[in-house]
Amino acid sequence: MKALVLAGGAGTRLRPITHTSAKQLVPVANKPVLFYGLEAIAAAGVREVGMVVGDTHEEIESAVGDGSAFGLEVTYLRQDAPLGLAHAVLIARDYLGDDDFVMYLGDNFIVGGIETLVDRFRAERPAAQIMLTRVADPRQFGVAELDARGRVVALEEKPIEPKSDLALVGVYLFTPDVHDAVASLKPSWRGELEITDAIQWLIDQDRRVESSVISGYWKDTGNVTDMLEVNRLVLDGLERGLHGVIGDECEIIGRVVVETGAEVVRSRVVGPVVIGAGAVVRDSYVGPYTSVAENCQIVDSEIEYSILLRRASIIGVRRIEASLIGHDVEVTPAPNTPRAHRLVLGDHSKVQISS
Ligand code: DAU
Repeated sequence: MKALVLAGGAGTRLRPITHTSAKQLVPVANKPVLFYGLEAIAAAGVREVGMVVGDTHEEIESAVGDGSAFGLEVTYLRQDAPLGLAHAVLIARDYLGDDDFVMYLGDNFIVGGIETLVDRFRAERPAAQIMLTRVADPRQFGVAELDARGRVVALEEKPIEPKSDLALVGVYLFTPDVHDAVASLKPSWRGELEITDAIQWLIDQDRRVESSVISGYWKDTGNVTDMLEVNRLVLDGLERGLHGVIGDECEIIGRVVVETGAEVVRSRVVGPVVIGAGAVVRDSYVGPYTSVAENCQIVDSEIEYSILLRRASIIGVRRIEASLIGHDVEVTPAPNTPRAHRLVLGDHSKVQISS
């Protein structure tokens, strides 16, 4: 069995972060979201991974390398344009050969891994096995309609009028039957070859499609709100570990990780919080559910429920909440006169000012 991991695509809903970075590499508790998926694949006993990459291939390749750090053998498969999830299967045809495979969307986050799912598939080998979960707004997902016995009768991608609140989770298991389905597809209204349509094709051909409804935690980390939620969830499992330098006048409460080479001076940190290597927190408050990446600076500021990417600096600002701050971003106060906000914001930035 192989894995096909999708790490291409455009990431429009995470702009401007994704102007310069792959969305699958945005960190959750200081670790790229993609790495959680790779760890889950390795834990399920799958070794060979085809990684579909697009414009951000260099960044993904330098983060994941040959996969050996995860116990995996990664082969990169270049997709010229994000033409759809089924298009990714199409370009992976030679790599996948006649093997069964698990397809994993690189921006999905599944608590509890995929072992049980993979074991069940190995035992039963339906043409496709999908996971469904109840969501508040199904219009943003692939949506399944089940019959009275709980069998999938129809699937629809991003329906305007959803037939249920059961969304497709971004992990799918397939036998090579899916290649016939993919070969028969035409682009959808949004111009993509949809994996949802490929599974519908299998249903229409009376091939066996199994589904299970999961109630465990799952998130598509495609937008900032979901990203912060996943970060909260992962930080909830954090264990305290103070490896960096903690000054005398600090108050470090609860599950806080301060990595080696980080420094906390005259500050109050209330966990769960992770502070990455080389970061400096001085005369500040860092509140629950905050991830501070390597070499950030938080000086004379207050921040809570936020993610800071590497080398971001927050100096003299109170107070920041529910924010995703990109790498090398600087947030500082404006001079007192004139009283005005001074902004240099990239395209698609979102700023909410409280005054
Ligand atoms: O997250 C679950 C949802 O994922 C499902 O409910 C939907 O049925 C499914 O179509 C998909 O919807 P999204 O619109 O959220 O997919 P997105 O375009 O965000 O792509 C998912 C991942 O696959 C992401 O890591 C980027 C990558 N990708 C995407 C496309 C379209 C590729 O590598 N190549 C592509 O061509």
